[in-house]
Amino acid sequence: MLRENKKAVIYGASQATGGAQADEGAAVARFAARVNALGPLSQASPALQACLLEEVKSVARRIDGSAEAGAASGYDRRVLYEDPGHWSLAAIILRPGQETDPHDHGGWGCAVTVQGIERERRFGQDAAGNLVLRSERDYPPGTGYVFDSSDVHQPSGADARRITVALHFLVQEAHA
Ligand SMILES: [Fe+2]
Repeated sequence: MLRENKKAVIYGASQATGGAQADEGAAVARFAARVNALGPLSQASPALQACLLEEVKSVARRIDGSAEAGAASGYDRRVLYEDPGHWSLAAIILRPGQETDPHDHGGWGCAVTVQGIERERRFGQDAAGNLVLRSERDYPPGTGYVFDSSDVHQPSGADARRITVALHFLVQEAHA
């Protein structure tokens, strides 16, 4: 089913005058068409989630993160595509050592590293409700992971020599 997509916005597409930016815009547009052809995403099977991870890897190969400077005040986020209430694709930009707060998303999603190394920590809760580190894994370029709606995670920039850029795909649909 192809969903009407009037609310969707491709950020930065108007600036795509050629070269890498045009390539990036075209890759994002192709990805959006594929995702929107899938229909509802909130109850995606593990197989479909794995398929989307591979699709995000395809987009990541077309993203040039070399011009990203990041922000001194904290991690940065550049939205590549957003269909409000459905899904979004954004580049998360982390200077060495920068990290997000631990968070969940209320929807499943996946992430793929474009450049640098994204370190992902996962947390659980102890009996008192405090966050407890459960796992930590580094993702070099071209690799990534899927997370579920209730997973609490914390990406950080683990490459000491360069800015880490990773694509994060988020499903925003409410559960049926
Ligand atoms: Fe996240």
